[in-house]
Amino acid sequence: MRFDSPAEQNVSDRMKVLGQPLRRIDGPLKTTGMAPYAYERHGVAKDQLVGYPVGSAIAKGRIVSMDIDEAQASPGVVGIVTTLEMERLPKVDWNVAYLFGGREIQHYHQAIAVVVANSFEEARAAAALIRVEYEEDQDSTYDLAAVRQERLSDDVEPIDNIGDFESAYASAEVTLDATYTTPGQCHAQMEPHATIAQWDGDHLTLWTSNQMIEWSRQALATTFDLPAENFRLDSPYIGGGFGVKLFLRADAVMAALAARKVGRAVKLALPRPMSANNTTHRGLTIQRIRIGATQEGKITAIGHDNATNTLPGGDGENGARATRRFYAGENRLLINRALEIHLPESNAMRAPGETAGLMALEIAMDEMAEKLGMDPVEFRIINDTQVDPSHPERQFSERHFIECLQRGAEVFNWASRNKAPGSRREGAWLIGHGVAGAYRDAPAETSGARVSVRPDGSIRVETDMTDIGTGSYTIIAQTAAEMMGVSLEVVNVDLGDSRHPVSAGSGGQWGAASSTAGVYAACLALRKKIAERLAVDPEALEFSEGYVRYNDQQTALSELASAGSITAEDSIEFGDFRSEEYQLATFGAHFVEVAVHATTGEIRVRRMLAVCDAGRILNPMTARSQVIGAMTMGVGAALMESLAVDTRHGFFVNHDLAGYEVPVHADIPEQQVIFLEGEDPYSTPLKAKGVGELGICGVSAAVANAVYNATGARVRDYPITLDKFLDRLPEIA
Ligand code: MOS
Repeated sequence: MRFDSPAEQNVSDRMKVLGQPLRRIDGPLKTTGMAPYAYERHGVAKDQLVGYPVGSAIAKGRIVSMDIDEAQASPGVVGIVTTLEMERLPKVDWNVAYLFGGREIQHYHQAIAVVVANSFEEARAAAALIRVEYEEDQDSTYDLAAVRQERLSDDVEPIDNIGDFESAYASAEVTLDATYTTPGQCHAQMEPHATIAQWDGDHLTLWTSNQMIEWSRQALATTFDLPAENFRLDSPYIGGGFGVKLFLRADAVMAALAARKVGRAVKLALPRPMSANNTTHRGLTIQRIRIGATQEGKITAIGHDNATNTLPGGDGENGARATRRFYAGENRLLINRALEIHLPESNAMRAPGETAGLMALEIAMDEMAEKLGMDPVEFRIINDTQVDPSHPERQFSERHFIECLQRGAEVFNWASRNKAPGSRREGAWLIGHGVAGAYRDAPAETSGARVSVRPDGSIRVETDMTDIGTGSYTIIAQTAAEMMGVSLEVVNVDLGDSRHPVSAGSGGQWGAASSTAGVYAACLALRKKIAERLAVDPEALEFSEGYVRYNDQQTALSELASAGSITAEDSIEFGDFRSEEYQLATFGAHFVEVAVHATTGEIRVRRMLAVCDAGRILNPMTARSQVIGAMTMGVGAALMESLAVDTRHGFFVNHDLAGYEVPVHADIPEQQVIFLEGEDPYSTPLKAKGVGELGICGVSAAVANAVYNATGARVRDYPITLDKFLDRLPEIA
């Protein structure tokens, strides 16, 4: 079905199952270890061999030669595939770096060989015996600050250049000009990239871990130059993605190449260090922000100049993205400098663009409020906009940012905070409070599903949608239960298989809204089919408690399907009105309380509150879990997460979970999430929008602003580690 106009009242509005805080239906499988991840799927293919990858030891240059004789003779080795055996394999545009093939090296740990053996240990031992001779390019620099400095005078096409920023800024009554930096960040997902590959003639099956099944099927078709129909991907459980599993990656390509060479199934997982350097990361940023305002606090000029690293062909981390639409201001100059640097591939991670951008912008807003002598909540409120500032003819479909701020301020007791930075003590601890705004777009993508009523009266839903730990299984089951009038227990959901209808997949926080809309469409088709069987107008049918009721009659779904399942399939396609006439987005406000040790500078996050405006919430429990997870990641970005760049050799040094620190929920004693009541009929028939990525946007700045409020020391360089402010702490004695 097409979604060509705002949703009206419809079956999903019953909200008997939808909108309820239901536990994840895959929870018991996950917590008992019964949900197998890609590397553990021992039963899917017979006689699985194990592949172990070899990554390039240089960041840029070429391979002169590879000696694999010793590896080949090593115990248990069945075969070796090297990059020199083939031309560079084609890639699709979603991937920036090439995944395999040829002698040119674009980045450190680019995959160059895979050893196949009977066991993991044998494969790994043999891989260490491969000798590679490189010719390393000496002209490369891996230092973003240096490259930015060199290229600051380059002509870059702005993303937005509205009004006359320079003169408006020059004549503004109050101005701020500050530069913020964010480091490279690692997705650090629990489950590494892993794939089991098996060929049957020229047909390939991959049991893998991937957010976007269809994108990857298309990418395989390009890479192996075969029709997309020849590929099957199956990815029912995914141990975290956060963007690093959006695209086809080297694990799948190497497993496929290896399986083809040895003529058997091969499984391969990327070792943890290759997560950082072989796959993708969030690019580093250096962001110069200039804000000009009137004495009364009205923004008149806003400039955001973002510099970021990328391999050739990518965009890096576009920090200026959120600034396009978040605050009013007639004169706007927004720039993204994607600078070519041969670090590993920078690509999507946890709200790409907005996360890093708001880390900077929302500190700048705090600094500006202070210059104006205004409350930072109030400063944000008076610069709210109900239209897209870069296209004022487009309204936000729904925007309740002011309400998020006001509600949050009230619940958090913002008014009682200490307004003079560095002057509230509780024993050894300096106490501070911070606020920041959150903005993230609310896209929707075409999404399909197949729904059946089965002879036992149960409902089965099939779609290639994925659940990356987000709750897709549950909200899809809720949608089908609501639409077909059955209880959640009798809905069976099968996800992540490319044999199912193509869905929106999990990315860009479009997954929940899009995939449930697709299931809605398929359920409507099924209801229509049932109506045809009964020769009744579909509008006259009511589905409830496992029955179809019409006129004065009722028939059990099990009876209807007694002769065999009744199945229907459809997908939802979103009309242009959604993006042409309206800007759809989600909003939030984050409030944070920190304690900073007055002597050591140790930072503890004591209390967090998020107020979210994201349309209808399909399941308040899974949505809350998304948001508190994202808030925790935001604390990571604020206080500890940082990929250390070796600027001589171009790689990330702290490439494992010992060196790359992430927080857990237990680090933060109190996390509260409030969802504003609301629906967005412009979004989908279910009037829902995503929340997962919204949850991280702005969080780090709220932490940073709280640290400033506690200490009086402003840090503009993330992560905020104590070495960056220890010498500026208030006098103790
Ligand atoms: Mo997301 S960073 O599009 O998985």
